[in-house]
Amino acid sequence: MQGIAVLDAGGQYCHLLARRVREAGVQSHVLPIGTTADQLAGISGIIISGGPRSVTEHDSPRIHPSIFSLNVPILGICYGHQLLAATLPGGVVKPSYSREYGLAKLNLTRASDGLFTGVPAASRVWVSHGDSVERLPDGFETLGSTEDCAVAAMGNSERKIFGVQFHPEVTHSEYGKQVLENFVRHVCRCDSKWKPSSAETIEAIEADIKATVGPSKKVLFFVSGGVDSTVAYKLCQNALGPERVHGVYVDTGFMRKGESADVMAAYEKAGFKNVRLRDASAEFLAAVGTETNPEVKRKRIGVSFLAVENDVLEQLPAGDWLLGQGTIYPDTIESGGTRESALIKTHHNRVPELLRRIEAGEVVEPLAQFYKDEVRAIGRALGLPAQLIEKQPFPGPGLAVRFLCTDEAAAWSENSKLSEVAAGFKLKARVLPVRGVGVQGDERTYAHTALLTGTYHEGDVAELSPAITNSLRDVNRVVFWTGCKGSIEDFRVEPTTTSREGLDVLREADARVRDILAEYDTQQRIWQCPVVMLPLKRLGESAIAIRPVESHDGMTAQYSKLPWPIIERITTAVLQVPGVGACLYDVTNKPPATIEWE
Ligand code: XMP
Repeated sequence: MQGIAVLDAGGQYCHLLARRVREAGVQSHVLPIGTTADQLAGISGIIISGGPRSVTEHDSPRIHPSIFSLNVPILGICYGHQLLAATLPGGVVKPSYSREYGLAKLNLTRASDGLFTGVPAASRVWVSHGDSVERLPDGFETLGSTEDCAVAAMGNSERKIFGVQFHPEVTHSEYGKQVLENFVRHVCRCDSKWKPSSAETIEAIEADIKATVGPSKKVLFFVSGGVDSTVAYKLCQNALGPERVHGVYVDTGFMRKGESADVMAAYEKAGFKNVRLRDASAEFLAAVGTETNPEVKRKRIGVSFLAVENDVLEQLPAGDWLLGQGTIYPDTIESGGTRESALIKTHHNRVPELLRRIEAGEVVEPLAQFYKDEVRAIGRALGLPAQLIEKQPFPGPGLAVRFLCTDEAAAWSENSKLSEVAAGFKLKARVLPVRGVGVQGDERTYAHTALLTGTYHEGDVAELSPAITNSLRDVNRVVFWTGCKGSIEDFRVEPTTTSREGLDVLREADARVRDILAEYDTQQRIWQCPVVMLPLKRLGESAIAIRPVESHDGMTAQYSKLPWPIIERITTAVLQVPGVGACLYDVTNKPPATIEWE
């Protein structure tokens, strides 16, 4: 393994560390905190991430002591900094009297060997900790401090082991990027040449595919027409030759309007060999059945993909077939893929049955270590057409997760705290009694939505939205009511399960929103725009929500601030679809809400 290992202590910003290292031109791998020296062979340096626990708890995450025998530079961050102090002889960590959260001033007490090159004697850093290093480990010296933290940076320059209490990976730390770049370039002496789309990286991915698949096995690949599976398929065909790689595009019935025909045509145009279409819409709809819990729906859909795989294999020439998937790194993180990370949702390519097969070496996932923007860059380098590569992300379980279901009828409820916060902005707010998935403080939440009505002012709504989710524990999403047929008071939450008719309504609404946004968003600033159907109805017609977001990698996102005339145009277009009774505009960032609303 080459580059930098980021050991994950469960920190919210762990993935940001990996990204910053990559942005500095060095390959990085996020690995479980307890990874051993053997598993890290070849690595040039180690970063230990922050985490939500305290090193003073006996069962909190620990590093494996063997990593010190590698004699490579180590940088601990926040929890990682404390873990170094608690693990190395002589060091002591204790709860601090004053907890430090937010911005602090870092005063460097001594310029260290490269770690703080170019960083002024005083700079702004972002901190969030309750414990502090009380005594340095033997051979270490203090390199910097803040008003509330005597050992805000420490190091042993001979052994090249460093710890910083602040978070260099977040942009609020003024020189954080510089510190991380210094670590990988000057301390670890990595060549900053790595690029996800360079010929060397692509060759390494293809070599990996060959090693996993071996000389004679074949690969049956699930392709969806999306960026990830398309690029992964192309890499496999390049590595193994077209005859050993077959693709199956599954029409789950949860696709967008016209999607299946468009994808097959695009594949043909791109010269893809051996891709067959399998219509499994009846099986998928039956598998989801009357289930209303989004996580269970996801699992059922994941398992249905495997049933299709068996079916297709029966029609292919006998042989030793592995399964190919376009899994990317965020799919793994959100599915609770590193030991310390929480399960936010089970991505369709991470159901338990598949995890067993992955462990048994029966699955090929060439892009499992890459982020979406990197996958796009690889796709461009492979010469794949923009129609496939620049496409907005669409989840494997498709419209099924955007079709919100519920078992119970429910009425609106007022919440005095919510009303009070909203009244400060001259808006009315109520709690929508439908729960949805969110991600807050590293954890999955399944909470309600606050619904705003009144006159839309962009700045007010942008300020009010986080104010609501910060102050109400049971709310993880905020939407603005943009228009409806009849009166809002006539809408009720009604028991709803996934149906073909409902899917058709959602499909049509989605197509109309897509057309308007394609015309408006010529600069492609919108990362994706889920269109969601809620079990909120009047005279049998449902509310539809639009969720346009901007993001770099899908891990965090800001809702897109659409001009009111565009929102109005979308509202009118959506309300013209038979079966749609109201339109809502999702004004929540990620976190606290996820991009998908399910
Ligand atoms: P969330 O909703 O977790 O989504 O903020 C982050 C990104 O992942 C996409 N997504 C999926 N992609 N299979 C996929 O291939 C899935 O099961 C899945 N679930 C979410 C989502 O559309 C967004 O781009």
